[in-house]
Amino acid sequence: MATPATSGKTFFIETFGCQMNVHDSERVSGVLHARGYAQVERMEDAGLILFNTCSIRDKAAQKVFSRLSQFKALRKQGKQFAVLGCVAQQAGEAIFAKAPHVSLVAGSASYPRLGELLDRLEAGENRVTGLAAAETSAFETEFTRRDHPWRAYITIIEGCDKHCAYCIVPYTRGFERSRDSQAILREAAQLAAAGYTEVQLLGQNVNSWRDAGPARLSFAQLLTAVAGIPGLRRVRYTTSHPRDFTSDIVTAMAGHPGLCDHVHLPVQSGSNQVLARMRRGYTREQYLEKIALIQASPRPLAITTDLIVGFPGETDADFEATVELLEQVHYSGAFIFKYSPRPHTEAGAWPDDIPDSVKTERLMILQRRQQEIQARDNQDWVGRRLEVMVESYLEKLNQWQGRASSHRIVNFTGDLRLDSSGALPVFSRPLRPGQYAWVEIERAGANSLVGRLCAAPDAAALPSIPPGTAAALPMAASSR
Ligand code: 5AD
Ligand code: SF4
Repeated sequence: MATPATSGKTFFIETFGCQMNVHDSERVSGVLHARGYAQVERMEDAGLILFNTCSIRDKAAQKVFSRLSQFKALRKQGKQFAVLGCVAQQAGEAIFAKAPHVSLVAGSASYPRLGELLDRLEAGENRVTGLAAAETSAFETEFTRRDHPWRAYITIIEGCDKHCAYCIVPYTRGFERSRDSQAILREAAQLAAAGYTEVQLLGQNVNSWRDAGPARLSFAQLLTAVAGIPGLRRVRYTTSHPRDFTSDIVTAMAGHPGLCDHVHLPVQSGSNQVLARMRRGYTREQYLEKIALIQASPRPLAITTDLIVGFPGETDADFEATVELLEQVHYSGAFIFKYSPRPHTEAGAWPDDIPDSVKTERLMILQRRQQEIQARDNQDWVGRRLEVMVESYLEKLNQWQGRASSHRIVNFTGDLRLDSSGALPVFSRPLRPGQYAWVEIERAGANSLVGRLCAAPDAAALPSIPPGTAAALPMAASSR
C-alpha cells in the first residue's frame, strides 16, 4: 500500500518468517510512517530497504543473504539497507562483513530504540547496530501500520524462557516480556472501533503470558475479555506451549463463541526420549492429557501442531512413536520440519547425526499420513454449515475462499441462490473480503472444504444480518 510521500523519505520492507515477524514489520512501518516515511511497493522506489528476517532454520536465514546480494547494486543509487529481526540478532555485525551495503542491523529487542537508530542512519552513519539483549519492557508503538485489511495482530508477550534444545528463539528474541492487560484491551478496542472484526493475539509462547499490569488477569480471563469487546467476532491466539496450557483456557473457549474453535499446540515429537532431549518439559502422556482436555470441550475445537523430524539421535522407534501420535490425536493440520542445527542452541553443539535423506523420508511419511488423516476427518464436515470469513476470490476457480472459525480453508461458490420458497435471493455476489458468510459444505479434501453459500442455520443466531443482504454485511476496514 503506497502512501504519498510528504518528506521524500521512502521505505520498502520485506518480511520473512512467522506472524510475530509480520506484525513486527507492521510496527516498524508505524515508526517509519510517524517519522514521515512513505511506504512503497517496489524496492527500486525506496530510499530505505528493510529485510525483517527469520533464523528459525538455516534455510530461512540463508534466504536473506541471497536477497541482499541480489539487490546490492541498488546501494550505488544511494539506497540504504537494513537487516532487522532474528538473523540480525543472531549474526550481528558479521552481516556488515557478508553484505557491506547494509547500514543498519537491529534485532527485535532493540525496536523500542528504533527512533534513535533511525536518527543515526539519517545522519549518514553506515554501521548502525541495535543488538542489545532484551530490555525489560515489551515494544509499544504509538502507531502501528496495519497491512492486513481484516485481521489485526496484537503482540501480548515477546521472547521465550523455555530454551528448547533446538530453538534459537530465546537467543534472537530474548527473555519473556508480557504486556499489561489494559494496554492489550485498549489496543483491541481501538482495532474493533477501526472496523476489524478478527484479532489474533501473538506470542512465541502466548499462553505463558502473565499480566504485567495491576489487573492480574489470567490468560483465560484475557481471552474472554478480548472476545467481549463489541465488534470483535473472532479472536485467535498463537502459539501455545503445552506445558502452560491449562483447563481454564478450554473453559473460556467453550464459554465464548468469539473465541475461535482452534488451538495450535506444537508437540514436536511423539517420543518421550526425544522430548526429554529437546527439553520440552512434558512427556507424551502429559501432552495427551492436554489434548484430552481440548477434545472434551463441548464445542469441537480443531487442533494443529508443529513437528520436527530428524532431531539428533531420533531412532526409527522414536519416529514411529510420532507417527502413532498423529493417529491418536487427529490434528486438523500439522507443520512438519526437518531438524536444522542452529547456532547458540544446546543441540546445535551435538552431531547432526540423522542423514538428510532419512529426514526427508520421515518428513514425507509424516506428511502423507497427516494428509490421509485430514482427508478422512474432513469428510465429517460434508453436509454441515459453517460460518466463514471471506478472504479472497479465486478468479481461475470462480470460487471464494475463506476460513472457518476452526481455521480450516473453505472454498465456495458465490452464485445467486434462491431461498426455499424459490423467491428471494439468499446471498448474491459480490462478497468482499472481510465479510462473513455461511457455507454449506458439499465436498472435502485434505486441505480444504468446498461448498456453497447458504443461509445461516438459525436466523436468530445472526440477528444483525438479515438474509438477502450480503452486500450490507459488516465489513472489516479495508485500507489504512
Ligand atoms: N529445526 C527445525 N525446526 C525448528 N523449529 C524450531 N527450531 C527448529 C529447528 N532448529 C520449528 C518448531 C517450532 C516451529 C516454529 O519451528 O517446530 O514449533
Ligand atoms: Fe523455541 Fe521452545 Fe521457546 Fe517455542 S518454546 S520459541 S520452540 S524455545
